[in-house]
Amino acid sequence: MRGDLEKILIDEPAILARLDGLAEEITKDYQGKDFTVIALLNGSIIFMADLLRRIPLPLTLDCLRVSSYHGGTETTGKVTFHQMNMPEVRGRHVLLLDDILDSGLTLAAVSARIMEEQPASVRVCVLLKKRKERYAHADSDYTGFEIGDEFVVGYGLDYQERYRNLPFIGVLRPEMTRG
Ligand code: IMP
Ligand code: MG
Repeated sequence: MRGDLEKILIDEPAILARLDGLAEEITKDYQGKDFTVIALLNGSIIFMADLLRRIPLPLTLDCLRVSSYHGGTETTGKVTFHQMNMPEVRGRHVLLLDDILDSGLTLAAVSARIMEEQPASVRVCVLLKKRKERYAHADSDYTGFEIGDEFVVGYGLDYQERYRNLPFIGVLRPEMTRG
């Protein structure tokens, strides 16, 4: 698996150190607030597990399964929700967690859908944010790392469902995503 990578972009100690900082910010902001974390599956699952264990506040956790990618390295432009029911968040503060903000399409669609449930607030936390122009209106309130506009895998992020279990974030060798 490691041999499929061109380089490691962010190693495990760097990720974990950054999570300490993110968790501290979130803990400060949500002190005394009743809040619900909604993690987007599958990409945010490892990020979620490591981040939430660093937040010593009472919270509730829900997961949403959505997809906008269908196997390739570019978004298809359509966001599909895979469940019938939305989490019960009326009047609650919601913190959405996702692995990466790329085009912004996924988070824009999910935020809009959550807003229909009339939460007290919605904020977005992502591990990674790509430096690029976003055509959908979405931004993050908490960001782990800003990265260049390249396709990354590991620490929850996949290419065709593989590489999620790498403990760091890396870039695939170009021939791995060709044809
Ligand atoms: P967006 O809707 O374009 O912002 O991207 C949404 C989803 O695409 C993310 O939650 C990821 O699952 C996936 N994605 C975007 N960029 C990458 C990447 O570089 N590597 C792996 N998955 C990615
Ligand atoms: Mg994916």
